[in-house]
Amino acid sequence: MSRAAVLCGLGGALPGTVVSNDELAAQLDTTDRWIRTRTGIGSRHVVEPGEATSDLAVDAGRRALESARRAAGAPAAADAAVDVVVVATSTPDRLCPATAPSVAHRLGLGHVPAFDVAAVCTGFVYALATAASMIVAGLAERALVIGADTFSTILDPADRTTRAIFGDGAGAVVLRAGEHDEPGALLGFDLGSDGGGADLITMRAGGSRQRSSGEEPAEGDQYFAMEGRQVFTAAVLKMSESSQRLLDRLGWDRHRLDRVVAHQANVRILHAVAEQLGLEEKQIVVNLDRVGNTVAASIPLAMADAVAAGSLAPGHRVLLTGFGGGLTWGSTALVWPDLEPVTDDPA
Ligand code: UT7
Repeated sequence: MSRAAVLCGLGGALPGTVVSNDELAAQLDTTDRWIRTRTGIGSRHVVEPGEATSDLAVDAGRRALESARRAAGAPAAADAAVDVVVVATSTPDRLCPATAPSVAHRLGLGHVPAFDVAAVCTGFVYALATAASMIVAGLAERALVIGADTFSTILDPADRTTRAIFGDGAGAVVLRAGEHDEPGALLGFDLGSDGGGADLITMRAGGSRQRSSGEEPAEGDQYFAMEGRQVFTAAVLKMSESSQRLLDRLGWDRHRLDRVVAHQANVRILHAVAEQLGLEEKQIVVNLDRVGNTVAASIPLAMADAVAAGSLAPGHRVLLTGFGGGLTWGSTALVWPDLEPVTDDPA
């Protein structure tokens, strides 16, 4: 039997403040109707001043560890040890150092290796691939993988397009070493990038390019910017192609696929991916109506919501696929394991 990384815990965290489309429409030139029909989003959660990405990451991580304990039937006080912590984020608490070491420290996980992965909305899939590779290589037995972002902190308050789409959140999973034929085993990955599209999803200021020029950033460069239409087209194409490549590699006919959990960017993108893959819309998990695009948190939060809603169940053949800035994309697949996601702290 070949060694594999097996999904055994799932958690999520959303900040307490909810912003409805009507609240956005009171501040910006937009409407609830435009946002719902063009994106499928009804509301999103945002952090309050002083709340940071690591705060959400710690909550999601703690809950994923609790979920793993329950799946193992272990008592609440059981050891929650992991060998590595990987945090996917593009909104780290600070540019330097990485956010993961402080998350590991705050979770009481000791002096384990901890590092960030930056692949914007594909970050969670890249982080999964990184942690799974460490497990398969024997560098780790158990990994905590967290996708966490607070894009509300980098959006232009006057940009109706990005403010309508993005929300804050964190989702996390625990991976453990196991066998390739177990439910939950990550069966393979397809990953890719195209740096020719680096300007389509970007924050121009803050990095070494502008700092080293010694000039003040141009007005607006401190905010996140996106070429919506081009990104839309690329998202549909790259998630569909990546998914199909992985299905071919695994020898999974699309008729044997039960669910797709795709990055939650826009419901029209999700439906177009379903069409490209020849799937029914109901096979594509959708939770962006209440959380928006939560960037690296999007896929684990969608998985947790789908389990809670009963649309993702043990034994389902599931494909996860993401697309984001870079440009980057990536997919993985698994047979859904029997686990209980934790999205609230136990009373
Ligand atoms: O997570 C990965 C990265 N992000 C994505 O995957 C997002 C991909 N892109 C999209 O989801 C869509 O392109 C958007 C939701 C961003 C925009 O939707 P669209 O249907 O592609 O609209 P558009 O950019 O073609 O704009 C159509 C019109 C424009 O007005 P004009 O130029 O036709 O007068 C926009 O200014 O809609 C306008 N518009 C809005 N109107 C009301 C853009 N945002 C808004 C808004 N409210 N919030």
